[in-house]
Order: sequence, then C-alpha cells, then structure tokens
Amino acid sequence: MKPKQALITGSTHGIGRATAEALLAQGWAVTGIDREASDLRHPNYHHTELDLCSPEVGEAFARVYRALLPELTIHSAGVGIMQAFWASSHDADQRLLALNVGATYAITKVFAAEAMNRQTPQHLILLSSLAGLSATPGMALYAASKHFVSGLAKSVHAELAVDAPWARVSSLAPPPVRTQFRQHSGRLARSKRIRGVLEVNVVVRELLMLHRRPQLDRIPGRLHRWVFTYLRPLIPSRLLLRRVYLSAKSD
Ligand SMILES: NC(=O)c1ccc[n+]([C@@H]2O[C@H](COP(=O)([O-])OP(=O)(O)OC[C@H]3O[C@@H](n4cnc5c(N)ncnc54)[C@H](OP(=O)(O)O)[C@@H]3O)[C@@H](O)[C@H]2O)c1
Repeated sequence: MKPKQALITGSTHGIGRATAEALLAQGWAVTGIDREASDLRHPNYHHTELDLCSPEVGEAFARVYRALLPELTIHSAGVGIMQAFWASSHDADQRLLALNVGATYAITKVFAAEAMNRQTPQHLILLSSLAGLSATPGMALYAASKHFVSGLAKSVHAELAVDAPWARVSSLAPPPVRTQFRQHSGRLARSKRIRGVLEVNVVVRELLMLHRRPQLDRIPGRLHRWVFTYLRPLIPSRLLLRRVYLSAKSD
C-alpha cells in the first residue's frame, strides 16, 4: 500500500522536525520544506529547500503541493521577536511579517484553492501560539502575526465546511515549547530553566491527535489549557500584562 503523504514546513528544527520524525515512524511519507538542507535521513523523507519569506512563495509552494497532493499539511515554520515593539529593527519586523503572515497567507490560499479542485480528504494545520489568543507584551508583533494565523484558520475552516467539506483547517496554539525558537528569535538561551515550558513530544502528540480530530486554537498540555481558560481570566489584566512584560525584559 502507498504511504499517506504529509507536507511539513519548518521541518529542519523544532516542532516541524519532531513531527516529521513521528509521522515517518508511523509509516507516512513526509516532504519537508525549509530554507536549509536537512540532515534527516529516511527512505520516506524528501526535502525541498525553499525560503518561505521569498516573494515567489505562493507559486513555489503551489508547485510542491500539486506534485504531492498531501492528505496532511502542517505549516510549522515561524519566527518570533522577543523585544519591545519600539526596539526591534525594521528588517527583523519585515522578516517576521513575511514568514508568519505572508507565508501563512500564501500556503492557506494554495490549500483552499486546491481543496476546491480536488474532492479528497485534505487537512491543513497551522501553528499559532498562545500569543495568538492573547496580548503578549514583549512579543507584540509576533502576537499580532499569530492573531492573523488563528483568525485565518477559524474563518477559512468555516468557509470550507460549506464549500469543500472534505477539507479541514485546524490550528494549534502552544505555550512556550522547548525548541530553539527563542535562539532563532534573536535571544540567548535562558540563564535559568523556567517552569511551564512544554516538551516538544507533547506538542507532536497533540498535532497527531488534531489530525484525527480537527480543532481550532487547541492549546496543548492539560495544565496549560486549564490555566489559560479558567485561571488567567481571574487575574486583573493590567497586573498580568505588566508582569509578563517585565519578566520578558529581564531574561
Ligand atoms: N517554541 C515555542 O515556544 C513556540 C510556542 C508557540 C508557538 N510556536 C510556533 O510553532 C512553530 C514552530 O516553532 P519551533 O519551536 O519549532 O521553532 P524553531 O525551532 O525555531 O523551528 C522553526 C523552523 O522554521 C524554519 N524557518 C525559519 N524561517 C524560514 C524560512 N524563511 N523559510 C523556511 N523555513 C524557515 C527554521 O529553519 P532555520 O533553522 O533555517 O531557521 C526551523 O526549521 C512556529 O510557528 C512558532 O511560532 C512555537
């Protein structure tokens, strides 16, 4: 039997890489997209080097997507800026917008157009963040970009439920996860380990669960889900956001 096809962006590191490995272990064929070459070696792994910030991302992604016709697409590539909004450079801001907003737009557009052309099950999972569901001082532009991701997922999901019910869009909204995201976002590793950072395997488990049971803005980790949904709303917002900002500045 031919293996099922998955397409994963940001497949060289972090959540994308760990998800690629988990799917390969379950017998899927995986095509990874990243701007760098990959050292992931597996007979069912294929790699495409593509800078998702490039202006041609739409056409380039469409070529890969149409050649593969994947059952599952996970858009994991993303970058943060961990600085006050006033302090970040124009170049860093533009890169974040090109990747988190521009590439998400291009990938979702290709997915929705192909879903209208091809009546077979297909599922796009977008990586949002808790920052996409709430104010996050110290990561303002990142939070804004992930609100775009979450908003797009919810709205396109509802459109496809009417126009192409064989296609699904889901989104995952993780809290901090132990990957190199922080270093890739221009900060040094933390000087001390903080509590509440999820291990990447928990996020991968939830991504695979999401493929079986599509959901929007799913928060991985039972405790994180509970704290965000029930505890956080009880804390006065002014105090909470000030605390979040001051701790972001201090480490
Ligand atoms: N880790 C967290 O704390 C956390 C929390 C909530 C949400 N998320 C979201 O989860 C997703 C994955 O994060 P992660 O922790 O896995 O981050 P990561 O470890 O930094 O991995 C990101 C991956 O995206 C790739 N990438 C970056 N720019 C690219 C570009 N222009 N074109 C193609 N690929 C590019 C990176 O490649 P290079 O190595 O070449 O840069 C890397 O392989 C992101 O969307 C992030 O916003 C992460």
